[in-house]
Amino acid sequence: MQKEEIRLHFLTFESIDELNTEDAFLLREAQLVTQFAYAPYSHFQVGAFARLNNGMTVSGTNQENASFPAGICAERTLMSAASVLFPGVGIQSIAISYDHLHGKSNHPISPCGICRQSLVEFEQRTGMPIRIIMGGLQGKVHVIEDAIHLLPLGFNASDVR
Ligand code: THU
Repeated sequence: MQKEEIRLHFLTFESIDELNTEDAFLLREAQLVTQFAYAPYSHFQVGAFARLNNGMTVSGTNQENASFPAGICAERTLMSAASVLFPGVGIQSIAISYDHLHGKSNHPISPCGICRQSLVEFEQRTGMPIRIIMGGLQGKVHVIEDAIHLLPLGFNASDVR
């Protein structure tokens, strides 16, 4: 028997002002696109904004539905858009922000479990690690260097080959 350990490393910045110019730009755009979310049920508007490997940018927002499970998160909307507009191109960095219409937006949120699964497969199929920048409209910002760190011991494409 052997005890094993997986460590998660991430960076914490006191605010968006501590980020480098590119990361601050991506996070500001993610904050801005929260206004295009369709979230009449949760009132929790999520925005995602990414820089792709070809230099282009794409955005995504959550799109809810009266049949709740039909809704889709901002991150997966973004990945769908990227896949159609720029097939096969990796995501360099994705910033995720939110506007909680009946609450605060003063701490980072990180992708839900389904989005983690999708982010990991996206990076595996494009062969490019995805950096994730997470921050509210205010407050601290977390940066994680590779989406795979958010899904330790995950199930992936190689398991079904
Ligand atoms: N949501 C996202 O879009 N991304 C996340 O990472 C977390 C949750 C959405 C789903 C739902 O529309 C709303 O936020 C509340 O859960």
